[in-house]
Amino acid sequence: MAKGPVILAAAVIAGGMAAGAAAQDAARGEQVFRKCKSCHQIGAGARNRTGPVLTGVVGRQAGSYPGYRYGASMRAAGAAGLVWSEALLMDYLADPSGFLRDYLGDDGAKARMGFRLRDAQDRRDVISFVAGFGARQGAATQGVTPGAQTCVENATPHGYYFVAEAPDGTRRAGPLAPGENLCARGGAAGQRAVVSVFEDEGQLEGCSRLLPGGETETLFRYVDFDRCAWSGNS
Ligand code: HEC
Repeated sequence: MAKGPVILAAAVIAGGMAAGAAAQDAARGEQVFRKCKSCHQIGAGARNRTGPVLTGVVGRQAGSYPGYRYGASMRAAGAAGLVWSEALLMDYLADPSGFLRDYLGDDGAKARMGFRLRDAQDRRDVISFVAGFGARQGAATQGVTPGAQTCVENATPHGYYFVAEAPDGTRRAGPLAPGENLCARGGAAGQRAVVSVFEDEGQLEGCSRLLPGGETETLFRYVDFDRCAWSGNS
């Protein structure tokens, strides 16, 4: 019965996937993140491993993820007021120990993260990927990815696979646990953006909503064939 809207939604998403360099940048960030995956998890079901969970790290106080044992220098930086922004992560990822030495003014400071990402474009891409997970509206994000932040939030009691697509075609996709959100940054506020939810990553049919770029759409209930309950439903 409700086949029409489903097909329409699928066409909107397929069109977005082809849309230009911005979408490729987002995909590149996901690829670069493979280098982080040996130590870090992000998104639904993420757990502390060698490194802390990175969901929501942009806008978070350094060294503050629950249940993770940070090094003394990272704890000191957090206590001194370090809150991660995209710009600060550009410096941290290039040289974690050097960053903490500068921040604390302490030549003996050390990061426990024994990994550097030297290439600036890799850093920009991976930060914009990471920033899409649980990024809060209003978090300090100047200087890396311009544009309005379009978000989708999972207010259901279950995990689903979500896609947020900004007006310029920049996409973020991933599994979200209850209470988590995902944002795509790009394009102008008010222009057409789209968010979608699928039962899991392999599903082709899900629910989509059009919304103005720069806004957040919240999923309250997942129902098959585009009959989901969204905050924008009247
Ligand atoms: C070899 C393991 C390893 C790799 C690879 C690695 N990290 Fe880390 N990362 C850590 C550890 C360990 C810490 C905790 C640092 C500390 O306590 O000083 C950390 C901390 C961080 C933090 C600070 C988190 C917080 O809660 O304050 C961020 C951000 C981060 N890493 C991002 C990345 C990104 C992005 C990549 C990939 C480009 C990456 N890391 C690759 C091990 C790693």
